[in-house]
Amino acid sequence: MTDVHPAWLPDAAFAPLAARRVRVVGEGLLAGTVRGEVTRAGARLVTGDADVVLEQREGDGPEAYEIARRDGVTTVVAGGGPGLLYGLFHLVRLGEEAFAGDRAPERHAPAHALRMLDHWDNVDVHPVMGQVERGYAGGSIFYADGRVREDLSRVAAYARLLAAIGINRVAVNNVNVHRREARLLTDDLPDVARIADVLRPWGIRLHLSVSFASPVLLGGHTSADPLDPDVQAWWAAATERVHAAIPDFGGYVVKADSEGQPGPFAYGRDHADGANLLARALAPHGGVVHWRAFVYDHRQDWRDRTTDRARAAYDHFAPLDGRFADNVVVQVKHGPMDFQVREPVSPVLAAMPRTRLAVELQVTQEYTGQQRHVCYLAPAWREALGFRPWGEDGATVSETLRGGVAAVSNVGDDPFWTGHPLAQANLYAYGRLAWDPDADPLDEWVSLTFPGAAPAARALLHDTLDRSRRTYEDYTAPLGVGWMVRPGHHYGPDVDGYEYTPWGTYHFADRDGIGVDRTVATGTGYAGQYPRPWSDVYESRDTCPDELLLFFHHVPYSHVLASGSTVIQHVYDTHFAGVAEVERIVAAWDRADGLLPADVVARVRGRLVEQLRSAREWRDQVNTYFLRKSGVPDARRRTIH
Ligand code: GCU
Repeated sequence: MTDVHPAWLPDAAFAPLAARRVRVVGEGLLAGTVRGEVTRAGARLVTGDADVVLEQREGDGPEAYEIARRDGVTTVVAGGGPGLLYGLFHLVRLGEEAFAGDRAPERHAPAHALRMLDHWDNVDVHPVMGQVERGYAGGSIFYADGRVREDLSRVAAYARLLAAIGINRVAVNNVNVHRREARLLTDDLPDVARIADVLRPWGIRLHLSVSFASPVLLGGHTSADPLDPDVQAWWAAATERVHAAIPDFGGYVVKADSEGQPGPFAYGRDHADGANLLARALAPHGGVVHWRAFVYDHRQDWRDRTTDRARAAYDHFAPLDGRFADNVVVQVKHGPMDFQVREPVSPVLAAMPRTRLAVELQVTQEYTGQQRHVCYLAPAWREALGFRPWGEDGATVSETLRGGVAAVSNVGDDPFWTGHPLAQANLYAYGRLAWDPDADPLDEWVSLTFPGAAPAARALLHDTLDRSRRTYEDYTAPLGVGWMVRPGHHYGPDVDGYEYTPWGTYHFADRDGIGVDRTVATGTGYAGQYPRPWSDVYESRDTCPDELLLFFHHVPYSHVLASGSTVIQHVYDTHFAGVAEVERIVAAWDRADGLLPADVVARVRGRLVEQLRSAREWRDQVNTYFLRKSGVPDARRRTIH
């Protein structure tokens, strides 16, 4: 394995453990992994007197564990192998604190049973999308030279990192299943099984993205109709073979009738028919189908003002509530559009009480700077998971999810894993939030990744990351309008890039105003997809939060925001402020020598040069565009080109 950054598991993070005698009580694969970790840390594995006892006692939820300390002994009692492993990593996070004084028993259990990462990796290098679709960290860690890699040591290191943040499911291929990748389900099974073997000791089950047309593509059938008995038999047999090769196979991920992928619509069937077809094949083996709700018309006529892409997932899926099999998880993007830096929370998440729903997040920074810009996304994810669709007294999104969480990975074969070294914080945060949606993982990540970091180094990292999502939002698309990116690759500004395209992503700026009217009264009706109070809150310009104003309303440039600023002045001010903030961060990193490892500082500085260039480009294009459209000058008379 080439030299790979240890991320949040550097040897130094294990130093407190290394000085201790550790007893591990338990049998099985994961107990073996825990023993391996203890030895690797340099600690003494003992069978008698110990400073730390890690004990596996079947029963109390296999992933849960209880930590306590009494009479100089730290104990972890886990309900199963995974809990033992998570308990060990909890001790690593605590560091010396795990071995100081007494500690009252504290139980830890995940908020969600399914905590998944989806890789959009292709086996082959796709002519347009590259090997990892929307990947900004090099090639795939799973595949090279048109097949599963022979050497999977990098995957093993990855699985270890994921176990340390509690991820327990990984889908290993792209949701857009091309011809070559469709065969992972059949011809490549022995190789896919090798990946599963590498993930298993870390408590991670493998999932595959499959093509709905597999019976046609791979089985020689003329149809993939979910109600056709031959098609059903094909899926049952194929799934049987997968299970024989991978006994703990997790299940299928499906993107159907979406952006050109095949699906049940071709046969006059709906998404419940489609999902239940695969669910039936998986059920005898304990597998689940993650069926994605990202379904919309991507061939829309931009002249047609009645169609609203934001409405699509709800319109397709909400009527199907109650029709999905128990082992179907409907996987819903956190916002109604597509991972923009600011979107409302998807109303689908509140519309299907009889369906197991998962929320889908995007760790890979497709629309948030592509790992060239710093953009720490945990604050956005916390907002989504903590959103209360039924108002202050109702449950949060996280509390209502029964299918857990999924997110698109940001990892590739880059030595830092994520391209931008600070993008590691996003992956770390995702895992920790999937376990505990109220967590605030940044300090943990800093302490583990940069053990012994001086206060000035910690301050620099906080300063760079804490506000970075807001900063990115400031210099890109304003007030929730989104989509002012270059079409195709989605990097950099292009205010009208998507305006006259079929993708349903418009801002409708003219000389008088901007924004999409999604009200019930005069617009597309999208606001009415929310339960009260949000349907009312979003319906009115007066109560709609500023940051989402242009998502829900078309307003004149002179409209006065709750902040007191006009829309046009807000556009100018935030774009100047966003760039000024990046300039400030660049200057801070100019003084970073000696604070953090030299390779990290060098890589971050390199990326900041591009972030600043790009932020200025965004500022100037957006400001100039709106000055020209509106004719309203900047009240502070700054340079707009
Ligand atoms: C986005 C992204 C695509 C991806 C799609 C999806 O539109 O740009 O690359 O395939 O989401 O989530 O399916």
